[in-house]
This record gives sequence, structure tokens and C-alpha cells, in this order.
Amino acid sequence: MKKLVTISLALALMLSLAACGGTGAVTASETPQPESAESSAPSAAGGNTLVVYFSVMETDGVDTVAGASRISVDGESLGNLEYVAELIANETGGELFRIETVQEYPTTHQPLLEFAHDEARENARPELASTLENPGDYGVVFIGYPIWNADLPMPLYTFLESYDFSGATIIPFTVHGGSGLAGTPDTIQQLQPDADVVTGALSISRNSVDTAPEAVRSWLSELEM
Ligand SMILES: Cc1cc2nc3c(=O)[nH]c(=O)nc-3n(C[C@H](O)[C@H](O)[C@H](O)COP(=O)(O)O)c2cc1C
Repeated sequence: MKKLVTISLALALMLSLAACGGTGAVTASETPQPESAESSAPSAAGGNTLVVYFSVMETDGVDTVAGASRISVDGESLGNLEYVAELIANETGGELFRIETVQEYPTTHQPLLEFAHDEARENARPELASTLENPGDYGVVFIGYPIWNADLPMPLYTFLESYDFSGATIIPFTVHGGSGLAGTPDTIQQLQPDADVVTGALSISRNSVDTAPEAVRSWLSELEM
């Protein structure tokens, strides 16, 4: 009888250890999750961190202080999203990936506005010139973009329809001219239904991009990253 009880206890211990799993590796399930049914789905994604961004640096006569889309860092001019993406990659050790298109966007303000407006009206899917190898390797995918026409820029639609981030945690970040996130995290969730898009996306006004280093650090710490 005593032997039977001992065997039962050993079996129960083995089963409970198997249920805990856990290799010690950081996975998507250890990062903040949105409160949705999907958040309890098993992750199919790998454990690496990716920092994807799209940015079109404007080259005409204004700078960030005047509300434009570039910032000067150590003598180098960067688009706002390019700058914030680099900060996030530096803080997290994530791999940077720039979304590039075959077509070249105008880099002066008014022609760029008109071009992007036409593209949105046509619901265009601009062809991408940069290719992401092995999207399934990433458990955490930061995605950064400027708000264009109160929406995602159209190349983001091409990107999010081209790759499958099922099981990954997607963390949006944006720089905008007043629209905030403009509902874009919900759009990303619709385009990536099997990923978990976090609720705490980062939104920085282009007028305060110079404070991005502190904003990024405090945001990452809130995300416990
Ligand atoms: C074509 C275009 C459309 C824009 N539309 C909006 C908008 O609807 N709402 C908003 O808040 N900002 C808008 N902006 C401002 C950008 O979101 C902002 O300047 C951003 O910092 C640009 O980032 P980048 O330099 O990395 O491209 C627009 C900018 C451009 C060029």
C-alpha cells in the first residue's frame, strides 16, 4: 500500500513539472499581453526581438523644432521614426529592419503630402524593396511608423499583409503631428489576428522628439522590457 502511495505521488510531481514547462528563455508569453482571448494562445514565434520601422525624412527647410520630420543627432539627420527605432533597438538589443519601397517618396513636405494622400485614396499596396528573412524567429516585434492621413502609411499595409507574426507580441510606436495613435494598433491587430498587439503603444508628438530618449526608456520600463 505504502509503495502504491509513493508511486502515485511521484507521478503527480512529474505531471505538475511538465505542466510548468519553462526553459528559462524569454518568450512572448513573458511580455505584457493585451486582455484578449488570443493572449492565452500558445506562441509559435521565436525568442528574438525585432524593431521594424518606416520613415521618410523630409529635407526641406524646417526641422523638428518647427514640427517637421527630421532630427539632428551627432551631426547626422534622421527621420523621426528612424531615430526612435534606433533608440528602441539600442535599449532592447533588438534587430533593426527598415521597411523600404521600390518607389521613392518625395522628400519635400507638400509633394509628400499629396503623394501619400493619393496612395491612401487608391488603397495602394506599394511594393517593398526590403525583405525580412525568417519572420517567425521573433517573439517580440516593435513596429514604428509615422501617422499619415490619420492611418498607417500604405507600405505598412503591404508589410503586415506580407508577413505572418502569429504568436508574436507586437508593440507599436509612432511619431505624429497631433493625431496620436489614430487607432492604428487596432488596425495592426486586424492585419495580424494571431499576434498579440499590446495595449500600451508609444505615441510621441513630433514637437517633442528631442525628449524621445527619456520617453522610450520610461515606456520600456512600464512594459517591463
Ligand atoms: C504624408 C504625411 C501625412 C501626415 N498625416 C498626419 C496625420 O494625419 N496626423 C498626424 O498627426 N500627423 C501626420 N503627419 C505628420 C507625421 O506623422 C510626422 O511628421 C512624423 O513625425 C513623420 O515621421 P518620419 O520623419 O519618420 O517620416 C503626416 C506627415 C506626412 C508626411
